[in-house]
Amino acid sequence: MEDRKDSELKRFCSRNLLVILGFSFILAVVALLAVGLTQNKSLPENVKYGIVLDAGSSHTSLYIYTWPAEKENDTGVVHQIEECKVKGPGISKYAQRVNDIELYLAECMERAKEVVPQSQHQETPVYLGATAGMRLLRIENEPLANRVLNTVTNSLSRYPFDFQGARIITGQEEGAYGWITINYLLGKFTQKLRWLNLMPKGDDTQGTYGALDLGGASTQITFVPQNKSTESPDNALHFRLYGKDYSIYTHSFLCYGKDQALMQKLAKDIQDTNGTLRDPCFHPGYEKVMNISDLYKSPCTKRFETTLPFHQFQIQGTGNYQQCQQSILQLFNTSYCPYSRCSFDGVFLPPLEGDFGAFSAFYYVMEFLNFTSGETPSQEKVMDKMKEFCSLRWEELKTNFGAVKEKYLSEYCFSGTYILSLLLNGYHFTADSWKHIHFMGKGESGQQMEVPLKNGRIELPHFPLAYLFSKLTSLVCDTFPHELHVIPPE
Ligand SMILES: *[C@@H]1O[C@H](CO)[C@@H](O)[C@H](O)[C@H]1NC(C)=O
Ligand SMILES: *[C@@H]1O[C@H](CO)[C@@H](O)[C@H](O)[C@H]1NC(C)=O
Ligand SMILES: *[C@@H]1O[C@H](CO)[C@@H](O)[C@H](O)[C@H]1NC(C)=O
Ligand SMILES: *[C@@H]1O[C@H](CO)[C@@H](O)[C@H](O)[C@H]1NC(C)=O
Ligand SMILES: *[C@@H]1O[C@H](CO)[C@@H](O)[C@H](O)[C@H]1NC(C)=O
Ligand SMILES: *[C@@H]1O[C@H](CO)[C@@H](O)[C@H](O)[C@H]1NC(C)=O
Repeated sequence: MEDRKDSELKRFCSRNLLVILGFSFILAVVALLAVGLTQNKSLPENVKYGIVLDAGSSHTSLYIYTWPAEKENDTGVVHQIEECKVKGPGISKYAQRVNDIELYLAECMERAKEVVPQSQHQETPVYLGATAGMRLLRIENEPLANRVLNTVTNSLSRYPFDFQGARIITGQEEGAYGWITINYLLGKFTQKLRWLNLMPKGDDTQGTYGALDLGGASTQITFVPQNKSTESPDNALHFRLYGKDYSIYTHSFLCYGKDQALMQKLAKDIQDTNGTLRDPCFHPGYEKVMNISDLYKSPCTKRFETTLPFHQFQIQGTGNYQQCQQSILQLFNTSYCPYSRCSFDGVFLPPLEGDFGAFSAFYYVMEFLNFTSGETPSQEKVMDKMKEFCSLRWEELKTNFGAVKEKYLSEYCFSGTYILSLLLNGYHFTADSWKHIHFMGKGESGQQMEVPLKNGRIELPHFPLAYLFSKLTSLVCDTFPHELHVIPPE
């Protein structure tokens, strides 16, 4: 069993690679395809396809990429041509009903069979990368996590594609992918190439953006710190991209994604109640009953677990931003730090450096709050907005945003407050460095990604996964973070 896994992984790692991510306005691609169709009546034949399933904690998405099979000047443009959202929760929620996994994946896999021409099915690789939801399940119950992965493997192997493996990526990988992706999309690696040859070798990594990623179960911060020598080797990654060396700092906080942070907060606050929790992070008039067992199921709430005289509790919203923030701050333990500087919970954090792109849930939440068009709003502006927003009555909010699912709508007050607390109190962004945070969604970067090709293969041997802003992902070999060589275009 172990042998099989090993050889699978080796096979997976030795193949030169794969995937990735391209990305472009879907619209632009559609327009392009439309032009191709009208001019030609058929798509260009020499095109390769790759499929990546991003199994996040709250949902799974399938992405299909395409790139030219024939190398032209050793560079090819990779397009994302399809995103299929798998209906249902994240894959870790299927731990108790693995028999449903096949059906869960079927709709999007069938879609992939339609999108990828049949003649190409056999050579189209499929990868599945799971993130923090599965990391938590593995902590909770490793055999169960393996069973989920094995079932996924069996299900995906039944399709006519070249299935390459399903695995849980590490928090470090996740941080590195986010950083690589965002800097690719911003053109930070290729743009400078010409200049680099002419310029003296200097400290030109200053131009990269740091990456701030927020998921349901974990959150990552990744950037190039000023000081190359680090106090904490666990948080350092070194790799070569386009012939250039990068030393980055990264940390993934498990249990500090927005959903698990909320679970932690509820588990902490419920301790001092009689079963009725008057919660400032929910709108006045909002009420919800939750089971204690559901709250305690997550490994993230262990530290707050006590024996309670009730099995259910009721949340009653009071809608108070300041009190909500006070409650959230208690989740960050800043009372001890074994290094010269820490973010929280004893984790090393070097001084923040340069610009940061904040994506995934950082973006979706700020977008809902109307903060993503134009310049990054000042801290004060965001706080004022949160004060006002959290105090809105639930009935009123439901009337105004009837189209938004109640579960999501009810949590924007918490999520917005959490984002502010995490950035300001967790990561210690100041009034000054806050201005360097850019909330970025897909729209911010419509450019296509050019990747070097060799014999029609994308030559990023241990590829960039891609977590796009919206978290596109693919996966990678265990060795990836430490040796990523990308063949530079001529
Ligand atoms: C490849 O190079 C040729 C000649 O230098 C040029 O005409 C062509 O546009 C290039 N193709 C791409 C995709 O850059
Ligand atoms: C860089 O880090 C090293 C080791 O952590 C430390 O000794 C040195 O003082 C730091 N340099 C600067 C400029 O902060
Ligand atoms: C619990 O305490 C709240 C006040 O915090 C009170 O309104 C409620 O009646 C109490 N519920 C029970 C079941 O004792
Ligand atoms: C709480 O658990 C019971 C059974 O254990 C279940 O029937 C009920 O739907 C759960 N309630 C919620 C709000 O999840
Ligand atoms: C913070 O962490 C330290 C070390 O683990 C622990 O001793 C302390 O009790 C924690 N503080 C709080 C408020 O949880
Ligand atoms: C965002 O702006 C739109 C249009 O002005 C408005 O209808 C909506 O209420 C705003 N959303 C929030 C959360 O304030």
